[in-house]
Amino acid sequence: MIPKHVAIIMDGNGRWAKDKGLPREYGHQNGVNSVKSIVEEAYKSGIQYLTLYAFSIENWDRPSDEINILMSLLVSTLRDEFDEIFDKGIKLNAIGEIKSLPKELVSELDFIINKTRKNTKMTLTLALSYGGKQEIFNAIKIISNKVKNNLIELNNFDDSIINSHLYTKNLPDVDLLIRTSGEQRISNFLLWQIAYSELYFTDVYWPDFSKDDFNKAIENYKTRERRFGKTSEQI
Ligand code: IPE
Ligand code: IPE
Ligand code: MG
Repeated sequence: MIPKHVAIIMDGNGRWAKDKGLPREYGHQNGVNSVKSIVEEAYKSGIQYLTLYAFSIENWDRPSDEINILMSLLVSTLRDEFDEIFDKGIKLNAIGEIKSLPKELVSELDFIINKTRKNTKMTLTLALSYGGKQEIFNAIKIISNKVKNNLIELNNFDDSIINSHLYTKNLPDVDLLIRTSGEQRISNFLLWQIAYSELYFTDVYWPDFSKDDFNKAIENYKTRERRFGKTSEQI
């Protein structure tokens, strides 16, 4: 079976550029081409949810020039791709501390999210200024307040209460998590949501990550036996 929800840590833009003797921004620019082709391929393959880690909360610690380049690339890419996203029936979604992003980016996101809200073909989620720990912390804060005000009873507390207070409240758990560039870590990406995800690491840098590489990851996923704690015989 193909995964319902694929999440990708798009990593290696800087090293891709460095290997070519180019400034890091070229890596980010070329990374945008990979985003376009992977969104298209995921859509064609019938993936229902695609979530892309585009900017982490820790990425705010990068040099301001690089942050500015990334933010303007996000704005221009969203502007350029709006028609395509809309026409394909893709629903855009964003997770993270969206309010801390530049105004121009927030209004571009608001516009597309609103225009595509009724689309049903594929949900494309961008993780921006996103941190998994911060997401859980926020959820705990809101839930604690509700408990204090008797809006939630502690006896009724279960998984679904946490799920419904995360940024990802409208998304199913991640089936397949891909990370490019050879790093094998999670870097504060979806922590709660990857509790039972299949993990796939590839050495390919994000700007070189092709449709074939994506399909290889999907094929690899199909060979996995997801047991969720049971025995093979029970599956
Ligand atoms: C991923 O590539 C893009 C972002 C984190 C925004 P990097 O910029 O992290 O590239 P490397 O890891 O330095 O090669
Ligand atoms: C993770 O990549 C964030 C994104 C891909 C947006 P980083 O390159 O920032 O992560 P670390 O620093 O290697 O863990
Ligand atoms: Mg990196």
